[in-house]
Amino acid sequence: MNVSELFDVAGFGTIVTGGASGLGLAYGEALAAAGARVTLIDLDSGAVEAQALRLQAEGLDVRGAVADVTDHAALDRAIDEAAAHYGRLDVAFANAGIDPGVGFVGAWAGGERPRVEEGALELYSDERWNRVIDINLNGIFATARAAARHMRPRRFGRIIVTTSLAATKVEPVIGAAYMTAKAGARHLMHTVALELAAYGITVNAIAPGFFITNIGGGHAHNPDVQTAVAKDIPMHRVGWPDDIKGLALFLASPASEYITGQEIVIDGGWGLGVAD
Ligand SMILES: NC(=O)c1ccc[n+]([C@@H]2O[C@H](COP(=O)([O-])OP(=O)(O)OC[C@H]3O[C@@H](n4cnc5c(N)ncnc54)[C@H](O)[C@@H]3O)[C@@H](O)[C@H]2O)c1
Repeated sequence: MNVSELFDVAGFGTIVTGGASGLGLAYGEALAAAGARVTLIDLDSGAVEAQALRLQAEGLDVRGAVADVTDHAALDRAIDEAAAHYGRLDVAFANAGIDPGVGFVGAWAGGERPRVEEGALELYSDERWNRVIDINLNGIFATARAAARHMRPRRFGRIIVTTSLAATKVEPVIGAAYMTAKAGARHLMHTVALELAAYGITVNAIAPGFFITNIGGGHAHNPDVQTAVAKDIPMHRVGWPDDIKGLALFLASPASEYITGQEIVIDGGWGLGVAD
């Protein structure tokens, strides 16, 4: 075995949904820096174009495509076009997701976590519920389905789903639809992993803790929120998109060849509890 080739993704055809910002952008940057060919798919046309141009200027093989993951026909088209462009689809990150809005308490951390009436179950609107499920769960299904159409005939592929620590640990500051969608996405990942294992396709999930991205209007950029959350995280710091790149490359690369159906939590120990 040539160990130096374990993380070699050179030439891999790769798509990332939600690739214009935050964790999806970090996945794309990591894969492209390692020599993969990457299509960032996002509904934000301005951002996806700007990021693709920025990365092209760095000499990376990155293109942008515009699609909303709730428009399954448009998503299929974007993924089909990427696969045709590369002549192969090796890696698909099913990542696009949104914040669900207010939960039933009003603070991320600390002793003072007052209840928020607006976030109460009785007032949870169908519209808010359905939108989160449509993007954060149905969008993952549609992305995995479109990817499998290209991967199964080649008997090779890597499907990597972004779930969340909130798939396991209920976080009451986050609206309930988010936890539900992420837990559903994790079990969908198990199902698809079982179905596709015999075809050389691995399906795994990355479950991030608290990362500084633009989700939810970028509330995580607030230094007071970061300080409060970091206090509860055993490593005493929040996560940054760069922190996720090694795991993304690992799950996309030959190094993870024999791992499928797993969710890997990356959270600085946050899910373990509060230490000091
Ligand atoms: N940031 C965190 O702390 C954290 C923690 C756990 C899980 N996650 C998950 O990580 C994933 C990425 O989120 P992020 O934090 O990088 O957020 P982000 O807002 O920085 O990036 C998300 C990207 O997805 C795009 N997007 C949103 N809805 C879309 C749709 N319908 N179709 C196509 N693209 C769409 C946005 O335009 C944006 O570019 C999400 O699934 C999120 O739930 C984030």
